[in-house]
Amino acid sequence: MKIGIIGAGQIGGALTRRLTQLGHEVYVANSRGPASLADLARQTGAKPVSVREAARAGEVVVVTIPEGKIRDLPKDLFAGVPDDVVVIDTGNYYPRERDGRIGEIEAGMTESRWVANQLGRPVVKAFNNIYAKHLLERGSPAGSPGRIALPVAGDDKHAKEIVMRLIDELGFDAVDAGGLDESWRQQPGTPVYATDFDAEGVRRALAQASKERKPKWQATANSPGSFAQPA
Ligand SMILES: NC(=O)c1ccc[n+]([C@@H]2O[C@H](COP(=O)([O-])OP(=O)(O)OC[C@H]3O[C@@H](n4cnc5c(N)ncnc54)[C@H](OP(=O)(O)O)[C@@H]3O)[C@@H](O)[C@H]2O)c1
Repeated sequence: MKIGIIGAGQIGGALTRRLTQLGHEVYVANSRGPASLADLARQTGAKPVSVREAARAGEVVVVTIPEGKIRDLPKDLFAGVPDDVVVIDTGNYYPRERDGRIGEIEAGMTESRWVANQLGRPVVKAFNNIYAKHLLERGSPAGSPGRIALPVAGDDKHAKEIVMRLIDELGFDAVDAGGLDESWRQQPGTPVYATDFDAEGVRRALAQASKERKPKWQATANSPGSFAQPA
């Protein structure tokens, strides 16, 4: 497949390495431009491109940048990109350490619904609950005992099937985690987050998740974009 990857950090880099190893044609972009990706390109055979080119690169486009930076992407990033191009969101919202306050998410919107709204495109949520290093190193053949499974949430059944097949190729079982508005079940702080469960464990963890966003995962008055409440 032809695959665009926007973000070449820990997750974008791991996906670039693994997907090129599998024989996919990868087009990768970051915020600093193609020249800054020369090493990754040399190591993997991926083609460094601009963010706009990555969005137009192929059948699947992975958006894997810090949640707070989603707002910096061009507003018309996906204008003219065919509807059947699948967009994957790997993002997580870390209001305290990294992203600052995002009001809609604080008010209860799922993180990926917010990303989809910002991009003006439906997204499939995947790869958000596995450490980049494990994504790079812990894939195993189908049927291996304890094979790590990854939850996949999204509203488009066909798009989700494409992502689930890709996950299997990468060496992981894929578990259908429902529609995008159910994707709070795999957000930071939930039982499935960063736990490397197998498929049965992922299903159980998704079922046990609580929608309540624990204080640790909420913005504070000190988070960028927040305002101290008047006394
Ligand atoms: N790290 C993990 O283990 C892990 C696991 C699961 C999910 N996630 C989530 O996946 C997302 C990416 O995480 P990460 O750890 O891979 O991040 P990271 O290592 O900090 O890398 C971020 C990448 O995004 C690029 N970027 C930032 N702003 C951009 C913009 N406006 N346009 C284009 N590219 C931009 C950066 O490019 P420059 O360097 O050129 O600025 C960099 O390549 C986050 O939401 C994170 O929470 C991370």
